[in-house]
Amino acid sequence: MTEEIRPGLQDVVVARTEVSTLDLERERIVVRGYDLIELARTVRFPDVAHLLLRGHLPSSEEQAAFCRELADLAGLPDGVVDVLRRLPRDTHPMDAQRTALSLLAGYEDPQALEDPSVEAAERALMRILARAPALTAASYRALRGEPVLEPNPGLGFAGSFLWMIQGRPREPEIVAVFDRILTCYSEHELAASTFTARVAASTLADPYAAVVAAAAALKGPLHGGANEAAARMFAQIRMAGGERAAEAYVLERLARRERIMGFGHRVYMHRPDPRAVLLREDLEAFAARDPDAAEMVRCYDVVVETMAREKGLHPNADLPIGLLLHLIGIPVELMTPIFLCARIAGIAAHVLEQRADNRLIRPRAAYEGPSGLAPPEGFTPSAC
Ligand code: COA
Repeated sequence: MTEEIRPGLQDVVVARTEVSTLDLERERIVVRGYDLIELARTVRFPDVAHLLLRGHLPSSEEQAAFCRELADLAGLPDGVVDVLRRLPRDTHPMDAQRTALSLLAGYEDPQALEDPSVEAAERALMRILARAPALTAASYRALRGEPVLEPNPGLGFAGSFLWMIQGRPREPEIVAVFDRILTCYSEHELAASTFTARVAASTLADPYAAVVAAAAALKGPLHGGANEAAARMFAQIRMAGGERAAEAYVLERLARRERIMGFGHRVYMHRPDPRAVLLREDLEAFAARDPDAAEMVRCYDVVVETMAREKGLHPNADLPIGLLLHLIGIPVELMTPIFLCARIAGIAAHVLEQRADNRLIRPRAAYEGPSGLAPPEGFTPSAC
C-alpha cells in the first residue's frame, strides 16, 4: 500500500470523467466540450442541464420537451410542505432543503429507487432537478409561516424559481442574471459535494441519497456556504461605513489570520476563477442602475484589490454571486440552497457516470493509533 498522503486529496486524480474539467492553461471551465462561460452568455440554464444530464445541447424539439418535463415535474407533494411547516422556525433553509430532499425519496416507487440502472437513476435525477426550486422556496417560506407558492412555468425555470421565492414576477434582466448564476453554479468537476455524491452513488445508494450527501457537503463555508458568508461580509462592510471601511475590514481579519470567504480555490488558488470574471460584468450593470448597488460594487472592488495585494488571491464565484443574489433581493440563508439547485444538474451527470461504470469508492487510511491493546483484566461490559 502506498503511504504517500496528500492532505485534502490535493491534485489527486480519482476518476475519469467526460462531464467537465478545469482547464487552467486556457483559464476555462469545460463542460462536455463547451466553455461554461460561453454557455452562461449564450444559452439558458435548462439547456445546460440537458447538456449535463443527456450529454448534448438540446435540439429545438428536445428543448421544448425538456422544458415541458421540468414544468410537469416541478410541483411538490403536499406531505413535503406539511413536514416543512412543522420544522422549528429557526431551522436553516439549507437543513430544511436537505430534509425535504430526503422526504421526496419516500414519494418514489420503492422498486424504481432500488433499480441500479442508469435509466432509473436518470428518471429520479430529473425529478429532483425539476422539484429543487419549489422545494428550496418552500423550505424558506414554510419555515416563516408564509404561503408556499406553486411553480409558474410560464416564467421559465429561472423566472419561476424567483417567483416562488419572492412572490412576484421579476424583470427580464434580473431573471437573466439569475439564470447566468445558475449556469455558473451548474457544474465544476470534482468539487467536494460532487465527489461526495459519487462516493454515495458508488455504494449503489439511490440518487436521492447521493444528492442528500452532496447537500451535506455543500453546506460548509469552505464550499457552498461561502456565498452566504460573502453576502454577510458585504452587509457588515456596509454597516461599518461602506467603501471607506472595506480595506480596513479585510486587513483586520487577515491580521487575525481569518479567511475572507469568496476568495481562493483549491484548484485555481492564485488564478482568476472565470465565473467571477464573468459575473463582475453583471455587478457593473446593477451599479449603473442604482447608486446603492454602485456603493456595494465599489466595496467589492476594494475587497478584491486588497486581497490581491495582501494575499495574491482572486475572488471565486461565490464572491460576486453572494453580492448579486443580495442585489436581486434573495434572503441570505437561501443562497447556498440555490447553489445546490443549480449544482444538482452537474451532480446528476456525475452520479450517472458513476453508475455507468461503477466500482465502490473505498480508499485506505494510514493508521497512526496504538495497537495490541486489550481490555484490562476484570473489565466489566457496560449494562446498556
Ligand atoms: N482568505 C485568506 N487566506 C486564504 C484564503 C482566504 N479565503 N484562502 C486561502 N488562503 C490562504 C491560507 O490561509 C493559506 O495561507 P498560508 O499558507 O499562509 O497559511 C493559503 O492560502 C492556502 O490555503 P489552504 O487552506 O491550504 O488552501 P486549500 O486549497 O486547502 O483551500 C479553500 C481552498 C477554498 C478552502 C480556501 O481558499 C478557502 O478557505 N477559501 C474561502 C472559502 C471559499 O470561498 N470557498 C469557496 C470555494 S469555491
